[in-house]
Amino acid sequence: MSSNRRVLVLNGPNLGRLGSREPEVYGTATHDDLVAACRETAAELGLEVDVRQTDDESELVGWLHEAADSGAAVVLNPAAFTHYSYALRDACALVTGPLVEVHLSNPAARETFRHTSVVAGVATGSITGLGLDSYRLALRAVAARS
Ligand code: DQA
Repeated sequence: MSSNRRVLVLNGPNLGRLGSREPEVYGTATHDDLVAACRETAAELGLEVDVRQTDDESELVGWLHEAADSGAAVVLNPAAFTHYSYALRDACALVTGPLVEVHLSNPAARETFRHTSVVAGVATGSITGLGLDSYRLALRAVAARS
């Protein structure tokens, strides 16, 4: 078992708009609420969490390289990149710690283009459809494996 308790929680494009973005799909919690939920859960679990959001694919790839280099675990919501970014998929494959893919909504219950995740095959596991609980549960899964 690794003693690395550091976790990067990485959020992809448009997730900074949570709260006002399609609230009927994503709920009314803001990205700040997401950060607070992750920090609270991490504190309970004795994890050191760093929550980030970007709309930029290359920045997200760089953060995954950082996790690969440091051995940190990753909780990743790749947002729309989930469905087509092979660059992100290949960066995920470099990560050696646990990597949990999360989604607020349940992509399998939505439009057909959301049914494919190019990341799922290189993730330790995926948690979808549970709003902020997807993140809380992902952090529990990481804690059990760190
Ligand atoms: C999402 C689902 C994706 O299909 C979508 O592009 C997002 C958010 C989610 O958390 O439910 O941006 O990843």
